[in-house]
Amino acid sequence: MGVGSVLASPAQISPIKSALFSEGDDMKKAAPAYNESGMRIIDITRPWSDQNVNGVDYGWYRIHLNIPKSLVKGKDFADFIQFNLGHIDDVDEVYLNGKLIGKTGGMPGDAGGYQSKWSVNRQYAVKSNDKAINWDGDNVLAVRCYNGNDPGGMFNAQGVTITVPELIEGVSITSGTGKNGKETVTVNNRYDKAVKGTLSIEEVDNETGKVLSQTTHKVSASASKPGVVSNLATSPGSFLRLKFTDDRTGKDVIARSHPKFILTPAAPAAPRFNTAAIYGVRPGSPVHYRFGVSGERPMTFSSTNLPEGLTINPENGALSGSLAKRGDYTFTVKATNAKGTAEQKFTIKVGDKIALTPPMGWNSWNCWGLSVTQDRVVSSAQALIDKGLADYGYSYVNIDDAWEAPERNPDGTIAVNEKFPSMKELGDWLHGEGLKFGIYSSPGDLTCGCYLGSLDHELQDAETYNSWGIDYLKYDWCGYGKKHALEPDRQVTSSYIRPYMLMGEYLRRQPRDIFYSLCQYGMADVWKWGEMVDANSWRTTGDITDTWESLYDIGFNRQAGLAPYAGPGHWNDPDMLIVGKVGWSDNLRDSRLTPDEQYTHIALWSLLASDMLIGCDLSQLDDFTINLLCNNEVNAVNQDILGIQADRDVLDGDIQIWSRPLSDGSRAIGIFNVGTTDRNVNLADYFKQLGITKLQSVRDLWRQKDLSTSDTDYFIPSHGVKFLKVSL
Ligand code: GLA
Repeated sequence: MGVGSVLASPAQISPIKSALFSEGDDMKKAAPAYNESGMRIIDITRPWSDQNVNGVDYGWYRIHLNIPKSLVKGKDFADFIQFNLGHIDDVDEVYLNGKLIGKTGGMPGDAGGYQSKWSVNRQYAVKSNDKAINWDGDNVLAVRCYNGNDPGGMFNAQGVTITVPELIEGVSITSGTGKNGKETVTVNNRYDKAVKGTLSIEEVDNETGKVLSQTTHKVSASASKPGVVSNLATSPGSFLRLKFTDDRTGKDVIARSHPKFILTPAAPAAPRFNTAAIYGVRPGSPVHYRFGVSGERPMTFSSTNLPEGLTINPENGALSGSLAKRGDYTFTVKATNAKGTAEQKFTIKVGDKIALTPPMGWNSWNCWGLSVTQDRVVSSAQALIDKGLADYGYSYVNIDDAWEAPERNPDGTIAVNEKFPSMKELGDWLHGEGLKFGIYSSPGDLTCGCYLGSLDHELQDAETYNSWGIDYLKYDWCGYGKKHALEPDRQVTSSYIRPYMLMGEYLRRQPRDIFYSLCQYGMADVWKWGEMVDANSWRTTGDITDTWESLYDIGFNRQAGLAPYAGPGHWNDPDMLIVGKVGWSDNLRDSRLTPDEQYTHIALWSLLASDMLIGCDLSQLDDFTINLLCNNEVNAVNQDILGIQADRDVLDGDIQIWSRPLSDGSRAIGIFNVGTTDRNVNLADYFKQLGITKLQSVRDLWRQKDLSTSDTDYFIPSHGVKFLKVSL
């Protein structure tokens, strides 16, 4: 039997969406003649864990297909065909009729060890004269797959295709700003054979979409000799829209330049309070809070009616102490510098709830990955203060995986590795600055990075965290998957709840508030029971990475409909921020998101009332990223005390509108263009869907400026956003 294919067009075999599958690792499954009687049909557009394949490490797929000779006939490139497999979680080897044609990631048995590469798009080329291809006959494509971490297996919504590229498909356009401030545009070609065509360059105003100038250039480009047009002068706040048209086929490749443009106006030199004016703490728990006030330093902080039991550090605005009795305590805080004074009425709510607004801070994972050290944590925490992020409410400093020693202490308590000389000292220092201290563990025996988890030591670990002054625990499923796979009730939600409930109870027993962050990638609809296990937030998806594809899938696709589950004290977490210098290793790079995509990212996370944990090295922050993270009006949406998460009110092709009500009676509205072309959108066209009859005021939150209430036609660049606050 076979899972075959039909010929769609001469240049492509139509997408294959299912395959034969069986669990277990056996290299014989690569052979064309393998006996497939033990295999069953599986969907390859969805991970195998969505299809009742749980706790499986190795699995094999086999696809039978006919590869017609007509596929390559008359093409620019008749000399190879390309297998497009999409994503495979986590590692794969692909065999065509028994011959290895491609591999991505590292299998546990490989020299370099296990290396997950689930996010890489698999495209494997095979030469047309390769004897492995059986033209016009049956071929077997066998995929050996290793899953280090659920979900597992092949999951490409588009299915598997085989294509023969055209020359124009090898063309890409890049651009960059030179030292002289002028732009250079390059037409690249992946192939040696030159492509000839016309490059059109339009300079466009980023706010209005108006075309400021237009030029065309005849260009020829090959792999060794790209086509270059340089010395293009541009005005501030503009970008270049680029189009290359192939002379032979008339086909286009489009792109645009991505200059970093700062929208947030500079903060005043006089003091300005930037954070929500409430804070939740449990009776008797230590208070660690820092008033977020921007403005020139030095600055002094004071209060004449501070509740008894609390003190405020006049130099850095750190509030400390504790309050034993339940209730609301309201007082006024004053911040003064050479340029003036500002006051804020502030309420501490002593009760059961903490995290009345989503947590803001930093986590080590998206930058350092497993190479985090105490020094690196300290340098980011210091930068959080020095570069003014703490003045905007960023206060958690969280160590992710890789702080644990290989073995526990003889008494069973968890030990730190040599990279972390003293957790207690680090915690004390952070608390002295009014910041909070976070850590990471797993309910399993091992974490995702194969460090020690908390299994069978949960209470001991909660007590150790208390002794170190921990304020936040990220608790990551990972190693627990092995134990879970053997549990008789593993198909039932209770089996997912159990390990999280256990740690939740132990954290609550500690005489301090520990923000409880669940990380299990959204399994078993965690949003429906996260609050029940006393969690303050829960990851709703797998890991994010710094690409539009990842941002789009996690931020837009996977958050719609989750709004009812968030509220003060318990938040949906679509994962950490991917702006600034990231890299998950020793090697950091600038986020691969374009500036427009980064504005979209922060606006969306604000609308989603998401945890705002910065994932980059703060000691290397540039002005663009600081301004992105420190727009007080944008952050105020995220921190709004009503705590109502935005939902997707409009889904109209590439235009999505997400909105949320705010505590002052106004509404935050994000109009997103997720498509590849720039668009003009008139908000008035969607008034009915948004329940708007008339606008009293409209404010552009990124630019912090009031807009007309009658002209609601906005230019929204590809992957960009118009982020508004309106009153009705
Ligand atoms: C998982 C989590 C990440 C990170 C790593 C650490 O992948 O989802 O956020 O904590 O583990 O190993």
